[in-house]
Amino acid sequence: MEVRRTKVKDLLKMEAGQKVLAKGWVRTKRSNKEIAFVALNDGSTIKNIQIVIDRNEANEAVLSNISTGACIGVEGELVESIGSGQNVEIKAGTVTVYGTCDPVRYPLQKKGASFEYLRSVAHMRPRTNTFGAVLRLRSEMAYAIHSYFHSKGFNYLHTPLITASDCEGAGQMFQVTTLDLENIPRNKKGKIDYSKDFFGKETSLTVSGQLEGELGATALGEIYTFGPTFRAENSNTPRHLAEFWMVEPEMAFYDINDNMDLAEDFIKHLVKYALDNCRDDLEFLNEHIDNELISRLEGVVNTEFVRLEYTEGIKILEEAMKNGVEFEYPVYWGVDLQSEHERYLVEKHFRKPVILTGYPKDIKAFYMKQNEDGKTVRAMDVLFPKIGEIIGGSEREADLAKLENRINELGMVRTNLEWYIDTRRFGSCPHSGFGLGFERLLLFITGMSNIRDVIPFPRTPKNCEY
Ligand code: 4AD
Ligand code: MG
Repeated sequence: MEVRRTKVKDLLKMEAGQKVLAKGWVRTKRSNKEIAFVALNDGSTIKNIQIVIDRNEANEAVLSNISTGACIGVEGELVESIGSGQNVEIKAGTVTVYGTCDPVRYPLQKKGASFEYLRSVAHMRPRTNTFGAVLRLRSEMAYAIHSYFHSKGFNYLHTPLITASDCEGAGQMFQVTTLDLENIPRNKKGKIDYSKDFFGKETSLTVSGQLEGELGATALGEIYTFGPTFRAENSNTPRHLAEFWMVEPEMAFYDINDNMDLAEDFIKHLVKYALDNCRDDLEFLNEHIDNELISRLEGVVNTEFVRLEYTEGIKILEEAMKNGVEFEYPVYWGVDLQSEHERYLVEKHFRKPVILTGYPKDIKAFYMKQNEDGKTVRAMDVLFPKIGEIIGGSEREADLAKLENRINELGMVRTNLEWYIDTRRFGSCPHSGFGLGFERLLLFITGMSNIRDVIPFPRTPKNCEY
């Protein structure tokens, strides 16, 4: 009878004494005259299963094809392992080589390659232990996000990736066009004639699904989006990508405090989910990447986040400067905080996550609810250790006149926004929402320090491989 393939994750939990079939990629092979030991990994777990091959029984031609990176199938008996590190191993019967791997040309031949080098072979790096762990965690976190919102009765809303509006108003959009760039059609005034373009108007990739998300929330009550977003920011930092994933819940009848409560509960749930369900991968990362990872994750789950007004935050930073702390960027009321400022508040001053609210309206987007003081808006940024801003959100301006005023003040083009303004014209309601940068979350969960290393195929300025 043919034996069916079992994944390594399951093999490692099985009782010895059974016929099994394992398939995967060779991590290492070492041998003496009598025996060859192969560490086999199939991606189902960070752990390998050990294959023991009796060289007297094995075909030497097959054996020589079993090199690091090769893909093989092994039929044999699951036996108790005397070696340390695992309970069971496979005593090989038949070995099939599916794909050989040239040891000289294989890019992952050397152990301990730098992350920088691995970025240059990003098509192969998922086969390393670290990226295996990161990618499994990424998948588990995506699942945890959906299950969290599903359990709370939120609807998953699919917002468009191609859009004619700039949600954040920061002018960081990638244009989408089918116009012939060698021969651009122009109107009588010499301007580009977008009526000839695919959509008959100027379009871009979205920077956020929020505006359409608000349409959903004011109909379905509570929605979330989870998809790719695009920003043509020329920031070559370890925290910025040109293509990143964002989770954006939007809730009718939530004020800024409800919004903060949800954000805090949501993040804690995700961190706890990783601690409870992804232990092997976290332990690997804790040992090899960041020795404080697990204690930092546990810390966040058990800590109440600080809630602080922007104005108070500025006072703390100014006080710190008086006491000799040096920042690269200036600090004064009205300034957009840099990550060094955010991290000072979180890592040095409070030593826990901080939710900063009441930002000056001039550094925030047009849709945020305006406070009575005429200067600040009901924005909230969640600031995290090692990351800085992980979430940005706000209560939304629900008042038609105030929203229109702000749009006019900022000189925004209204033609592509009337549909959005309609939410305030017809049955407007108080509502709030936020956006969690998925890769920023993953930086925190995995302990990795560069955002290019928590997404399979990073897009950054001058870099679009694969
Ligand atoms: O603060 P942001 O710009 O907020 C919005 O886009 C709102 N429309 C969200 C909402 O209220 N629905 O972005 C939200 C989060 C940031 O806090 C950050 O975590 C992440 O998205 N982010 C980036 N992540 C990676 N690379 C970039 N270039 C990012 N820009 C923002
Ligand atoms: Mg922000």
